[in-house]
Amino acid sequence: MRKQFTRPLRLLSLLFIVLAISSCGRKGAETNGDKGKEQKITDLLSEMTIEEKVGQMTQITLEVILKTDDEGDLIEPHEIDPEKLDEALNNYHVGSILNCGGHAYGRDQWYEIISTIQERAIKDTRMGIPIIYGIDAIHGVNYTLGATLFPQQIGLAATWNPSLVKQAGAISAYETRASSIPWNFSPVLGMGRHPAWPRFWETFGEDVYLTKTMGNALIEGYEGDDISGDEKVASCMKHYLGYSFPLSGKDRTPAWIPERMLREIFLPPFKSAVDMGSMTVMVNSAEINGIPAHASKFLLSDLLKDELGFNGFIVSDWQDIKYLHDRHHVAPTQKEAVKMSIDAGLDMSMVPTDYSFTGHLTELVKEGSISEERLDESVRRILRVKLALDLFEKPYTNPTDYKKFASEEFRMANLQSARESITLLKNDNNLLPLNKNSKLLVTGPGANTMVSLNGGWTYTWQGEDTDEYAGEYNTVLEAIEKKIGKNNVRYEKGSSFEEIEDLRAVKRAAASADKILLCLGETAYTEKPGDINDLYISDAQKELAKTAISTGKPVILLLTEGRPRLISKFANEMDAILMAYLPGNEGGNAIPDVLFGDVNPSGKLPFSYPRYPNDLVTYDHKHTEAIGPENGDNAYNPQFPFGYGLSYTSFNYENLNLDKSSIDNKGELTISVDVSNSGKRQGKEVVQLYIGDLYASITPSVKRLRGFEKIDLQPGETKTVSFTLNADDLSFIGRDNQWITEAGTFKVMIDKLESTFELK
Ligand code: BGC
Repeated sequence: MRKQFTRPLRLLSLLFIVLAISSCGRKGAETNGDKGKEQKITDLLSEMTIEEKVGQMTQITLEVILKTDDEGDLIEPHEIDPEKLDEALNNYHVGSILNCGGHAYGRDQWYEIISTIQERAIKDTRMGIPIIYGIDAIHGVNYTLGATLFPQQIGLAATWNPSLVKQAGAISAYETRASSIPWNFSPVLGMGRHPAWPRFWETFGEDVYLTKTMGNALIEGYEGDDISGDEKVASCMKHYLGYSFPLSGKDRTPAWIPERMLREIFLPPFKSAVDMGSMTVMVNSAEINGIPAHASKFLLSDLLKDELGFNGFIVSDWQDIKYLHDRHHVAPTQKEAVKMSIDAGLDMSMVPTDYSFTGHLTELVKEGSISEERLDESVRRILRVKLALDLFEKPYTNPTDYKKFASEEFRMANLQSARESITLLKNDNNLLPLNKNSKLLVTGPGANTMVSLNGGWTYTWQGEDTDEYAGEYNTVLEAIEKKIGKNNVRYEKGSSFEEIEDLRAVKRAAASADKILLCLGETAYTEKPGDINDLYISDAQKELAKTAISTGKPVILLLTEGRPRLISKFANEMDAILMAYLPGNEGGNAIPDVLFGDVNPSGKLPFSYPRYPNDLVTYDHKHTEAIGPENGDNAYNPQFPFGYGLSYTSFNYENLNLDKSSIDNKGELTISVDVSNSGKRQGKEVVQLYIGDLYASITPSVKRLRGFEKIDLQPGETKTVSFTLNADDLSFIGRDNQWITEAGTFKVMIDKLESTFELK
């Protein structure tokens, strides 16, 4: 349920929060320790030169300080070049470094790199300020060899299980610290509402409430109560704001998002994370309504710093100040671009391959175009995070202190996340679960590779080399062979993700098989390289699907993909469909667990799986998007709806009960429902509560998710699930761009049960 406050409640609620925080001393409280830290920052600022302040605001990529050969190529194994490090720290006073040099490192190598940097930053610079090192550890610490690599965010969302997500966050934080790194560029809190966008899978899907809940859980896992802990990292909310909704579906292209929609759909997960105490945020690389986010004072200062009260620091995305000039054409010069973003409220520039930012900003301050007080504001924010992480006292950690790295305990947690993410979308005649004596033909490009189980940001940026790095883990094919014996399995690839290979071989092999497992989807990608012109699954894979169908054998379609590639040209002819998203390094094991019934599937789609490319409608659409065939064909008609997912057992919903027929603005409504397992085996069900506002001054959504709970039921068992709502949960952004509630009738929907109540 929404933790937003409607206007009249806001001040009171704020007071309550401040009191609650100061009485229990939790994160965000103004304690004596905090006062001491703020004083320390004031002392440091009073001694720092302009150049040193500008340096704190500069972030470079690791490559800049690594040894290279005569051709300028990095020398393997990567090693710090002491002269380049000295230049970064003492000539440019750099405050932050990010990334790896293009591929994953072992923990010892990370230790060597980071301890070298920190020792020099603390001992050999005038101010002795440690670096803050940042990394994209987005599904586990994916640039560290041997790390526990979880399902990507879209798969975590499909578990609808926040406690698993929190656990994944905690393990990722542990293994990130075990790699001596304290700052993680995660989670993505952008809304996955454009299925073609190549970073769709980095989101928690299309729903605001689910994204907020899962974002909070992941941040809680990363940060715990105190980010200075040896097993915790600082999170970085990204990409602020509206990055995920480009009109074209292509990465880093314009979004057009009215302020009302920005506040109702896109802002809440960030607001919630700021309230949780997340201390860093990364900016949207693209533009909204014609204004690049990096140049938007409205987004960075007015909304984030002033309105939401964010007191951490804002880091740019990769090279994005330069792009204000090079790509967006809003700044006639590079220097003007720096001024624009600093005026907008940016605190740190991910420059990251040179020192141009440092030069321009120093000049701007010296000539009086930017005040030194403005620098102080940003540097104070950056130092605040360094102190919160306790980097002055503990600038790096030692891998030998992290005995649980890649432990069996962590592997099991990972396996459980993958299992709970897998979503059964179709199961005609209860074809699944399969009998372990089945003769199975496994075909398709996704069957025997770790690449499409993990996606991008896996050992490398694009994740294309995962088979080399993750050889010790099972592909889907390997895990099936282990489960039912090689004798029961035939493998014919048939096609790659884009090219037909040998369809005739597939047909031949099918003759001796009982059933066909058709493994389709996508290879790994992220950002621009993942742009597509066509959301349909590739022609080669469609041909392979048609070949499998033509054999007459029952076909089970397994999808490993980062976004819903359209399958409507053959989905009706599939007997069963299993969606695995990007389930990580345990995905290969989890999928056969579900196929052969060792695990009962319990994932639910965190997005609407579209049927047609011109019909990309989300579940929380308007009433005009629900008018069905009689008045034109614009009813919500996805291949599979948001929240959908089958089980090997059945669930029965009864006794939807509302404890009142009306509430006022201060009241609470308790909704309960009885859910029974009416089938023959244990299963987990996600009970989903939706609310619809019947009439409102802004056209209301047909329904909006306002609560969910995942429960575990034995056959014959019944559980009562309750939700409590208040007026905030019924509010929306009105015509004046503020949260409001309006009296009226509201519909409650759980499964197929419905009821109504009044808000007075
Ligand atoms: C991505 C960010 C990422 C950054 C650093 C950018 O290209 O957009 O999500 O955190 O690179 O690797």
